[in-house]
Amino acid sequence: MNTNNFEQLIDRKYTNSIKWDLYPEDVLPLWVADMDFEAPQPIVAALQQRIDHHVFGYEGPDEELLKAICDWVGRRHHWTVTPDQIMLMTGVVSGMNWVTNAFKKEGKKLLIQPPVYPPFFQVAKNTDTDLVEAPLICAEDGYQIDFDEFEKQAAAGVGVFILCNPHNPVGRVYTRAELERMGEICLRYGITICADEIHCDLVYPGHEHISIASLSDDLAANTITLMAASKTFNIPGLNFSFAVISNEESRKQMKKAASGMTGHAEILANAAAKAAFTECDAWLEKLLVYLEGNRDYLLDFIRAELPEIKCFQPQGTYLAWLDCRSLKLEPDAYHFFLEKAKVALNDGKTFGKQGNNFVRLNFGCPRATLQEALERMAAALH
Ligand SMILES: Cc1ncc(COP(=O)(O)O)c(C=O)c1O
Repeated sequence: MNTNNFEQLIDRKYTNSIKWDLYPEDVLPLWVADMDFEAPQPIVAALQQRIDHHVFGYEGPDEELLKAICDWVGRRHHWTVTPDQIMLMTGVVSGMNWVTNAFKKEGKKLLIQPPVYPPFFQVAKNTDTDLVEAPLICAEDGYQIDFDEFEKQAAAGVGVFILCNPHNPVGRVYTRAELERMGEICLRYGITICADEIHCDLVYPGHEHISIASLSDDLAANTITLMAASKTFNIPGLNFSFAVISNEESRKQMKKAASGMTGHAEILANAAAKAAFTECDAWLEKLLVYLEGNRDYLLDFIRAELPEIKCFQPQGTYLAWLDCRSLKLEPDAYHFFLEKAKVALNDGKTFGKQGNNFVRLNFGCPRATLQEALERMAAALH
């Protein structure tokens, strides 16, 4: 039964889930970024309806789906986009590799802002592009953009900048002023922006997701924005994402880069996405309230029971970035919690060297699971 009860404990063991089946049975997994919740009921119904047809032939472009995407982006993010600007894709990670291949410039580099989602580093290798970094600054009151370093790298020669907003793992939702300043530098130095906005729907009260491409016509023309239904509705295994490409020339460039490399329409993913973007606003509102409760529970627990761990309040995403450096754990924070607490987190150093002795915790789970993990971590430390 699909009741969309976020408290429900679902047994995901032995389902070939990356999250649940990588570690031994006694390990509680709060790592890879999918949630332990059922997908919204309208999505399940749409998939069932499509399956009940029993014929799975090739399908053409779906105008209703494109309209649903544009309406969603307009309704939720106050950004007007049109169906001709949407390119459907099977993944945001593959999308950023396409974008970099299509827009890299001879002799110029790829710029990222670590600590950041590990596949960002891989894009440089995949596309034969040199990587440069403008690491975020871990300030007293939260992570900040290092604009001096950003501009220094831009001036030294960057072809493509991959922005992560909301930012995985630090949970920042960038302000209009920050986006305008990054955008201005990119325009001044002719740098194409690839905006990974996969977490854009998962933003907490007090913060607003702003697509960098929505800030001006010039930025729209200079940006490829990558979005998806996967994180928002917990359907990452269905591989549905899309790019918004406002500039006609850029669209041609992207299509050329993808030419012959992509298959026909993903009929199940498309059915799911259409339901997601038309019938699931209410589900998302409830999810956000639940996730905010988890986030606050986590921060309260850390303050009371694990005060040596530092964590800034995530402004978006269901990910928390835990600074365990002052604990001086052996051999490091990730292995300590895995071995002594039997809790699997993401090892911070996979997000860049700034992440040594940090761990990333995924709180997209029933509160009882989160509580159990935190209690295990506290017991291992005390
Ligand atoms: C910032 C970011 N980009 C991309 C992805 C993965 O996207 P996809 O599964 O569509 O390749 C994730 C998943 O955690 C992510 O956090």
